[in-house]
Amino acid sequence: MTGSPRVHPPVTVLGIGGYVPGVRVTNADLQRRLDTTDQWITQRTGVRVRYHCAPGESTGDLAVEAGRRALRHADRTAVDAVVVATTTPDHPSPATAPAVAKRLGLGTVPAFDVQAVCSGFLYAASIATSFVRSGWASTVLVVGADAFSSILDPTDRTTAVIFGDGAGAAVIGRDGVVDELGWGTFHLGSDGDAADWITVPGGGSRARSLPGQEFGEFFRMAGSKVFQAAVDAMTSSCRSALRAEGWRASDVDHVVGHQANIRILRAVAHLLDVPESRVVVHLDRVGNTSAASIPLALTAASPRFRAGDKILLTAFGGGTTWGAATLVWPSRLSATTVLGDNDE
Ligand code: UT7
Repeated sequence: MTGSPRVHPPVTVLGIGGYVPGVRVTNADLQRRLDTTDQWITQRTGVRVRYHCAPGESTGDLAVEAGRRALRHADRTAVDAVVVATTTPDHPSPATAPAVAKRLGLGTVPAFDVQAVCSGFLYAASIATSFVRSGWASTVLVVGADAFSSILDPTDRTTAVIFGDGAGAAVIGRDGVVDELGWGTFHLGSDGDAADWITVPGGGSRARSLPGQEFGEFFRMAGSKVFQAAVDAMTSSCRSALRAEGWRASDVDHVVGHQANIRILRAVAHLLDVPESRVVVHLDRVGNTSAASIPLALTAASPRFRAGDKILLTAFGGGTTWGAATLVWPSRLSATTVLGDNDE
């Protein structure tokens, strides 16, 4: 979906919030149980620490906490819809969003999940923005939440070192006052030919769960293929979004990219010709939290955003899927305190 330069009615971010669970897993912890080192993980990925759910804790629990924080930040107790982006729903069926909506006291509003793996938040934000632009809704709660600890193979050093659990949320809607700041263009894409590069092969209708059978229900990723494809797709979708929005790369104040690997973020910045100092880096503190990664990074970096700052968001994930979006930081968020990560 591609927008045209700034003809949209303003749809903005009314509040944000983030949450990570309490089980802290450092590189030193992983070095004790896997054939890896703190030095390899730090140099090749940039991740230093990630968080896992406690036993019994789920994606829905993380989504509720992040959603509560975003609603509080937006000063809202009601929304018109809830969209949860996740690859690790509480159950294969039903979707996680209706329970999240109910637990947040949002009643019986429409609520559904979006599955676009690490691009999930951008996909969900584009849906929410379209709902509001069309007049169908005035506010939508979007949550990106994942508990990859539930699908990681604990013996697979190529994935266990990167991923962590978390949730980030945004209330998307119209401001009460006329506000020219907010979401601009969304540019999204997918390539099903590369579906098996990032996958949980078993448990669906093609590789069914049968008694006594090896399900292959752990997450698998062809890391180096994904690395190159992520750099290419994030760069080209950013270029498309910039062109559609009428921004030059030099106009961009902050790049909030999917937090998979510091080397991917640096490569995209280099190809776009955006200084590395404008790239938000949050993965060192929480790892790759999949659908939560962009809203968690936004939440963490928000104290340094100023009203009117031009933000370029971009992601790549399983499917494969990718996307980029433009966001002008709204003035109402500049003066408020955001709760993110493990803030109380
Ligand atoms: O979130 C959705 C999108 N996901 C991504 O964007 C992730 C993209 N991929 C990556 O971030 C990187 O490809 C990885 C971090 C997964 C792997 O890093 P890499 O630099 O691409 O490593 P590689 O797969 O090319 O492997 C290089 C070497 C191999 O050893 P040999 O064959 O050269 O002896 C691996 O076995 O590094 C080895 N290796 C490790 N060594 C120590 C792979 N993982 C580890 C590890 N510790 N954890």
